[in-house]
Amino acid sequence: MDVLETLIRRNREWARGVLEQDPAFFRKLSEQQAPDYLWIGCADSRVPANQIVGLLPGELFVHRNVANVVLHADLNCMSVLQFAVEVLQVEQVIVCGHYGCGGVRAALDDARLGLVDHWIRHVREVAHRHAGALAALPDDQRRWDRLCELNALEQAHNVCQSTTVQDAWARGARLAVHACIYGVGDGLLRVLAGGVSGPGEVAALAAAAGGAGRASGRTKALE
Ligand code: CO
Repeated sequence: MDVLETLIRRNREWARGVLEQDPAFFRKLSEQQAPDYLWIGCADSRVPANQIVGLLPGELFVHRNVANVVLHADLNCMSVLQFAVEVLQVEQVIVCGHYGCGGVRAALDDARLGLVDHWIRHVREVAHRHAGALAALPDDQRRWDRLCELNALEQAHNVCQSTTVQDAWARGARLAVHACIYGVGDGLLRVLAGGVSGPGEVAALAAAAGGAGRASGRTKALE
């Protein structure tokens, strides 16, 4: 109970602080939410979506899971995507990976952690698809960093291939998909591939993953 009391006290302090800045803040928010962005990121506690992009409640629609995985069979993620695009009409979808991702590390190590292994299996598939490029890197740290980037690019590609996004583009809706990576060590967000706004631009994700023109064909999933 002490733990909750601490959180409740902090909540009251936070709400009071917000009201000091804008006395109508919560009343306005309670009337509608109209975020401009959908953020799909890792559940990692060091990557709090709103905070790192400096957005207030109401400005960012968020879906987070271990290693920011986007699966077409994941009813949760697909529902968030559909609701964000078709109901809230967000025009920007950001898939954000992060350096130092534990889920990506586990994929790289083939670690056995339990139930979560099934989930991480999808990141392992990304590692397998890019095995040649990863093996060519000079050290383990760079392999980890690169797989964090490749995973964000592959998951952004999955967003682009979803029926929600394909349908939105087919009806001419303005909708851009971006792949980004966040540095937990420096607090900076970097763009891996930005502004994919139609089926003809999806190749930009493969290019950023080093897939364009690669002879091995291991980046097939991005093409
Ligand atoms: Co992570």
